Amino acid sequence: METIRGRKSLELDLNGLTERLAGYNRIILDLGTGDGRYVHHLAGKFPDHFIIGLDSCRENLREVSQKKLPNALFVIASAQALPHELNGLTSHVTINFPWGSLLESLLRCDEQLMRGLESISRPNAPVSIRLNSGALAEAGWTLEAGAEQIYQNMIQAGWQVSKPAMMNETTLRNFPSTWAKRLAFGRDPRAIELRVRLVAS
Ligand SMILES: C[S@@+](CC[C@H](N)C(=O)[O-])C[C@H]1O[C@@H](n2cnc3c(N)ncnc32)[C@H](O)[C@@H]1O
Repeated sequence: METIRGRKSLELDLNGLTERLAGYNRIILDLGTGDGRYVHHLAGKFPDHFIIGLDSCRENLREVSQKKLPNALFVIASAQALPHELNGLTSHVTINFPWGSLLESLLRCDEQLMRGLESISRPNAPVSIRLNSGALAEAGWTLEAGAEQIYQNMIQAGWQVSKPAMMNETTLRNFPSTWAKRLAFGRDPRAIELRVRLVAS
């Protein structure tokens, strides 16, 4: 899979990844990580966890991916074609404030995304999805209707969804990602968090 460090792109195979992950039990994947600030925060706060940030856009990742963090890695890939090297690895997936094709895939219950999430997750691994009203409005949905659609899609795809939680301006302001801060100070500082888990078959 392709990883990024500043302006450099590096191929990392399964052996290389296994070496990087040696000694870490909890692996967190942040899908649609943007500029990687959330990954950087988690890596500093939880030195015994390994945090992987993944995004299809490399430009925003140049700065944070340059920082020397022993327990963080940035991957360039599409959420609809997750690298097979990640299969069965992740103990928690976060999708914070998705837009574009990532949000569309959640709204459409895209098979590639759903199967990919299933493949990379360890049994019972939670997926936290945080949806904001501006991105949903651009996709033609209200916050409530979009969250409900994704809620139903996840159930249909075999995931167990816990009760949605509202994120207000204060919650967004305190959430350690760049987009959360933007939203908190923007026109419509509302978001909804869905927490899902794959139901064991
Ligand atoms: C609004 S930004 C949120 C960034 C970050 N999660 C945050 O909270 O600051 C949405 C991100 O989703 C990424 N994204 C959109 N579609 C994607 C896809 N299909 N695969 C991977 N990343 C995608 C975009 O490149 C962008 O960085």
